[in-house]
Amino acid sequence: MSDFYALVPAAGSGSRMSSELPKQYLDLAGRPMIYHALTTLCACPNIKTVFVVLAPDDEHFKRYDWSHCAGKLEPLYCGGATRAESVSNGLLSSELEPNDWVLVHDAARPCLSAHLLSRMIAELRDDPVGGILAVPVADTLKRGDAQQRIAHTEPRENLWQAQTPQMFRAGLLAQALQQCKSVTDEASAIEALGLQPRLVGSDSSNFKVTYPQDIVLAELLLNQRK
Ligand code: C5P
Repeated sequence: MSDFYALVPAAGSGSRMSSELPKQYLDLAGRPMIYHALTTLCACPNIKTVFVVLAPDDEHFKRYDWSHCAGKLEPLYCGGATRAESVSNGLLSSELEPNDWVLVHDAARPCLSAHLLSRMIAELRDDPVGGILAVPVADTLKRGDAQQRIAHTEPRENLWQAQTPQMFRAGLLAQALQQCKSVTDEASAIEALGLQPRLVGSDSSNFKVTYPQDIVLAELLLNQRK
């Protein structure tokens, strides 16, 4: 039987946040941002170990108290220049079996709920490829030109916004990322192998904190759940 693991790339600098402190350590509802997703993943009974991929010179992670995740959380100081490189390095260092499932989740998606996480595992555990959490696109999509004028309207039928976790077999994912290094998510690398990951319906609460104004919304959601 294969086991389930989580891998959280957290070696980014979060330049769009205009802050000295890397995004994953910004204060969010009284905790560093990364605390929330790691706590949810560590609390999931299906998940054996949660690997967190940090920058080799990360000085912040060890300053926080992780005792509530004891025995399940494993920091790996092997982050790379891109997200894909951090995930790839993390997979190498974690020494998972090729058949193990790995759920890659952004440190910057603090509002992942336990409910979505367990639903995703239940829906994908017998899937031959794996898949991702995603939301059908609700807004009308405009393609802009260089002058920031609308060039045309994109049809939104069958369009989904990709989120994380993205859940694949560790061996397949490592192979896919070796062959395709310029991707912004794991599913793109799997697609490049000619495979079709499954889309598991999610909701917009699992958004990625990218800009300063996203912090306020994430705090509202997290405080409401307390
Ligand atoms: O910058 P962005 O929000 O797209 O980053 C998504 C996730 O990838 C974050 O958790 C970030 O820390 C991580 N990342 C990484 N290594 C990099 C760049 C981003 O682990 N070189």
